Amino acid sequence: MRHLMNPMDFSVEELDKLFDLAADIEKDPKKYAHMCEGKKLATCFYEPSTRTRLSFESAMINLGGSVIGFSDAGSSSAAKGESVSDTIRVISCFADICAMRHPKEGAPMVAASRSGIPVINAGDGGHQHPTQTLTDLLTIRSLKGRLDNFTIGICGDLKFGRTVHSLVNALARYDKVHFVFISPEELRIPSYLREMLWDKALSFEEVIRLEDVMPRLDLLYMTRVQRERFFNEEDYVRLKDFYVLTKEKMERAREDMLVLHPLPRVNEISVEVDDDPRAVYFKQVQYGVYVRMALILTLLELV
Ligand code: CP
Repeated sequence: MRHLMNPMDFSVEELDKLFDLAADIEKDPKKYAHMCEGKKLATCFYEPSTRTRLSFESAMINLGGSVIGFSDAGSSSAAKGESVSDTIRVISCFADICAMRHPKEGAPMVAASRSGIPVINAGDGGHQHPTQTLTDLLTIRSLKGRLDNFTIGICGDLKFGRTVHSLVNALARYDKVHFVFISPEELRIPSYLREMLWDKALSFEEVIRLEDVMPRLDLLYMTRVQRERFFNEEDYVRLKDFYVLTKEKMERAREDMLVLHPLPRVNEISVEVDDDPRAVYFKQVQYGVYVRMALILTLLELV
């Protein structure tokens, strides 16, 4: 039985297969409409979510399966003190696969170690968000036609943003990816990621100004400042609007540069950018459903 805790749990070859499957699902969804009949997905979300939880639920329903779960720790027996280990042992009696989001780093890993069913990490604290990374990679592969040989700017809260941590780890395995990390000093990438890039002799730079690097980017991955991970409100307020992607800044970008964002957005992308054909963050959400369908089929060994 396999779990998904980290995008690195799949080899590059396995990811290729997963993305091929997701692309086939996009092309011919009817072919997959009954593949999970009789199967249940449990969504155990101890932290708020719109996209991840609902795209998992949508994915399972699209596959003919059904969904149980909770969207708030307060409405589960966690509020009475039940441990994640006990909860997953219980959920294993009810469902065939579980997607879990938790504010504590490593909680889905603890669950996986006691689980009778595959567990998918749907985001754990500021650590990892592997299914967002699968979504990001499928979006890039589908719209750019490749996962190598590009310059990607990653902008915003690189310290606390789990989507950033998972994406950098995943992209570090592809050839000729140059990273441009754009953040204020206080929100730079964690040192373990910088060391990983140094160890692998990968090409990266760290800058503060977004405007200066725009003309060099093939992809721009914008992120939200993660209010929920800050230790004090004052720092959050000072940093929250450090970057705002506007129409004027987009004028400095290449014609074929793509803007991605894991969403939710707060102020970091002006709504006027949404109409720019290079803004693909809402398309990205749709790819999230296809890739989660492919993941459920893969972990349930139905393909
Ligand atoms: N991208 C993402 O994880 O969104 P949600 O928090 O809405 O699930």
